[in-house]
Amino acid sequence: MERVRGAGAVLAVLVVLGAPPAAGEELSGVFQHMVKTECNFINGTERVRLVDRKIYNREQYAHFDSDVWVFVGDTPYGEILARYWNNIPEKLEYTRSLVDTYCRPYYELDTPFSVERRVPPSVSISLVPSSSHPGPGLLLCSGMDFYPAPVQVRWFQDGQELPEHVVATDVVPSGDWSCQVLVLLEIPPRRGVTYSCQVEHVSLEHPLSRHWEMPPDTVRSKILVGVGGFVLGLVFLALGLGFYLREKSS
Ligand SMILES: *[C@@H]1O[C@H](CO)[C@@H](O)[C@H](O)[C@H]1NC(C)=O
Repeated sequence: MERVRGAGAVLAVLVVLGAPPAAGEELSGVFQHMVKTECNFINGTERVRLVDRKIYNREQYAHFDSDVWVFVGDTPYGEILARYWNNIPEKLEYTRSLVDTYCRPYYELDTPFSVERRVPPSVSISLVPSSSHPGPGLLLCSGMDFYPAPVQVRWFQDGQELPEHVVATDVVPSGDWSCQVLVLLEIPPRRGVTYSCQVEHVSLEHPLSRHWEMPPDTVRSKILVGVGGFVLGLVFLALGLGFYLREKSS
């Protein structure tokens, strides 16, 4: 059902310093040996694949793959080691048993906050400036902080879906078990039309919708009121001056 890659990977890292450094002395080198035990849950615990990687200075030199069931060398030196390990029944048996003693128990342990983790998105609509579309800008729908990644975002115009002129980013994992997605409507919004962004996600019982309408153009109406008042003032001033001058001359 759900494929979880390396949900229970353990890292055993051994760093050996090239020479014991005296105080304030530069290190002559760093040599790193790493073992990565990777569990792939292809269908829950029904189908599990274990990959145990042996790495020296970032180069994988041998690995055990439960699909192959023996150690395999990835470099000439790794091939020698793999042959050696494959001839030690206890070593082989131990590594093979990790599927049951390591991967499967960790899956059960981690499932409530990994496989079953559900966080609903926060959805909002914003108007963003666009150089290719001068004017009010373009509408952007943001879905934030949701988990897991699969999500569907749709734009509607007065209830009618807009399948075209919609560009979405990939779903971006934030690195903290949450994801983000941005979906831009590539046609400039018009006044008097209601735009809706609808999000479907496994965490939501019903699709979540946000609506947006062009706000009344307050800046332009304020300018109009100001100019109108100024003109009216001028008219009264002229009238007053006219009366004054006529009174004075008569
Ligand atoms: C996954 O495992 C379940 C049993 O837990 C089984 O019923 C189902 O058919 C399997 N699905 C696939 C795609 O193999």
